[in-house]
Amino acid sequence: MIDTDFAFMGDYVLFSFGYYLSLRVSYIMRCAIFSRHGKVYHLDKYIIRGGNPLFGEVEISGAKNAAVAIIPAALMVEGVCRIENIPQISDADMLLTILSEMGAKVRTINKNTVEIDCTSVCREGAPYDLMRKIRASYYLIGAMLGRFGSAKTTMPGGCNFGVRPIDQHIKGMTALGAHVEVKGGFVYAEAPNGVLTGNKVYLDKVSVGATMNIMIAASKAQGKTTIENAAREPHIVDLANFLNSMGADVRGAGTDTIKIYGVEKLHGGTYTIIPDQIEAGTYMAAVAATGGEITIKNVIPKHLDCISAKLREMGVEIDEYPDYVVVRRMGKLTRANVKTQPYPGFPTDMQPQISTVLCLAEGTSVVTEGVWDNRYKYISELKKMGAEVQVDGKTAVIEGVPFLTGAPVAACDLRAGAAVVIAGLCAKGETVVEDVSYIERGYQDLVGKLNNLGADIVCVSEPDEYTSAVV
Ligand code: UD1
Repeated sequence: MIDTDFAFMGDYVLFSFGYYLSLRVSYIMRCAIFSRHGKVYHLDKYIIRGGNPLFGEVEISGAKNAAVAIIPAALMVEGVCRIENIPQISDADMLLTILSEMGAKVRTINKNTVEIDCTSVCREGAPYDLMRKIRASYYLIGAMLGRFGSAKTTMPGGCNFGVRPIDQHIKGMTALGAHVEVKGGFVYAEAPNGVLTGNKVYLDKVSVGATMNIMIAASKAQGKTTIENAAREPHIVDLANFLNSMGADVRGAGTDTIKIYGVEKLHGGTYTIIPDQIEAGTYMAAVAATGGEITIKNVIPKHLDCISAKLREMGVEIDEYPDYVVVRRMGKLTRANVKTQPYPGFPTDMQPQISTVLCLAEGTSVVTEGVWDNRYKYISELKKMGAEVQVDGKTAVIEGVPFLTGAPVAACDLRAGAAVVIAGLCAKGETVVEDVSYIERGYQDLVGKLNNLGADIVCVSEPDEYTSAVV
């Protein structure tokens, strides 16, 4: 039915995709790069007047880290793949643009649903300048290998948490028989005679990206692949479910052993992305910091267990229902120790947000980063607001203070940006957050959702005099 739609509606598709692209690209350009109006460039910033407790309801969007793997995986599908609950974030937009530049037909159905037809994509169309901007472009290695038998991608970009190697991705592709070379900022991979062969892969490190990349490539390899020491995050299960709904045979996702039985072809279908665990956790942390009571809708409470347990320890009340949680903080916050670990441990992507809450908890808290080497850059921003934190390597020792004070700060990366926004929401006075393009890579309408909860936050766009002058 959908195929027929595509056949008869070629012009409409081109038109609607053009319209879609213009909306999406202008959205990306508005905040993610610099918005260009004539020869004037704009930079967006958030201005937050802190002190309002949060009350009301917020709806969680689709999971970023699932979407950024599922969109590239759609490259493997020969047919129309309808994906629902895609978050409206610049990282997802960029991946859709990359696919369309490779020849995919991307049709927007509504703001969170697209149909992607990769029947006639070609490897050569890949826009390397866009790939370089995002971390998740590494999934194109697995997807291109599976689809074309060869891949050329840039080394991935993304948030800088210190060294971000891709050796485990390469180990996986090599185990499947590909010859992989990294040269001049590019990754080249070639399967012998264009065909990957299933094999056993033991990951030396629990890696979300490597687990998903190998799953994608192995879906179309000949024979069986086993990934040992696999990551177990909810988005791993979501990617497996997506691939299976398109005809793949992936078993065991969510455990540390995943088995993939290669199939010849993936067919079209419809898939709905799970809700974003980290976006939900961010709103939980926000109400913990400001006080108040909010209902967080469209969540899978099980995915929030590690976050809920820690917040409860800190004095936050959480009521769980089948697909929503009510989070309440009326009394004082108490200190806690947090160690980030792969799922089901406390997520590293919630470390900056929970640390911000701990800045306001009575007593001394110790946070240990167990995944990344360098994920405390935002602490210097929190210190500008009066936080008392000492960082030593992977450990941060936080002395709670009675309040934070508004200040000009910057978003150092996506979750660090969420952390300074939370700090601004509960601080006395005004906080100005610069570099918000990082935040908009991963949060759909953060400003609108927070304002609905009673926050006072505006996004302002100002001409960037320096950039405008030098162009
Ligand atoms: C993904 C998430 C990121 C999150 C991280 C951990 C995306 C787009 N990003 O990143 O938000 O913080 O999972 O939950 O989904 N490592 C290696 N070699 C590799 C790969 C990773 O040594 O080949 C190391 C990394 O340096 C890090 C650890 O393994 O110390 C975990 O990294 P990984 O799970 O791969 O993170 P990403 O997939 O890049």
